[in-house]
Amino acid sequence: MKRVISLVLVAVLACSFVLGLTACGGSSDSKTAEVKELHMATNAAFEPYEYYKGKKIVGIDAEIADAICKKLGYKLVIDDMDFDAIITAVTSGKADFGMAGMTVTDERKKSVDFTDSYTTTTQVIIVNEKDSKVKNADDLEKATIGVQRGTTGDVYVSDLKEAKIERFNTGPDAVLALTQGKVDAVVIDGQPAKAFVAKNKGTKILDDPFAEEEYAICLKKDSDLTKDFNKALAELKKDGTIDKINSKYIKE
Ligand code: ARG
Repeated sequence: MKRVISLVLVAVLACSFVLGLTACGGSSDSKTAEVKELHMATNAAFEPYEYYKGKKIVGIDAEIADAICKKLGYKLVIDDMDFDAIITAVTSGKADFGMAGMTVTDERKKSVDFTDSYTTTTQVIIVNEKDSKVKNADDLEKATIGVQRGTTGDVYVSDLKEAKIERFNTGPDAVLALTQGKVDAVVIDGQPAKAFVAKNKGTKILDDPFAEEEYAICLKKDSDLTKDFNKALAELKKDGTIDKINSKYIKE
């Protein structure tokens, strides 16, 4: 009995000595390693929402996602992929959520859940300044239109019976085709359109906005995270963080 007690004592003493040195339950390194990661699926060719600055993906979505993850105690990891791969990444569990200036649509709601929306936006039409045969939304009917594959822009123009649609991997690819005269117009989200036009001399945005949309984050159906994300989003809206992030990237 005595022997057992002294053994236990020795063990306790040794343990508290070790703990004293390493601050409870292991080194601080192994602690950070324990922070659970959340993978965000995105398509990082969509300034100001997600784009590369050097090797890093920055932008409004990247910062909002980071703020949400910090609040909920996760480490954010951003996975760049084609836009039309994001929903599958989320439904298959390869990614924990999708955030990509993604518009809430009934079609998408069949496969994923959306958080509350964090932005309202519009689809716009980009054309060449000179001799464009597209002068308004009606002209799209008889035009060749460039879109990013799988986006709402793609869905809208696909309804036009007479139009010819060219689908590109990224928005910048579609705008490049416009500057090369391969398409007559590009239909894409308003803020990225401004960023693309600023980088491509000779292009402009038509005054006619096309459709109103809401952006939200998508998660696996019935995910426990959705509730937490909505709570974090609401707090970040209330304390002005979302406004601050928006005005950092969008100078009106
Ligand atoms: N808002 C549009 C959509 O949801 C386009 C989003 C494209 N986003 C991107 N990161 N490339 O379909």
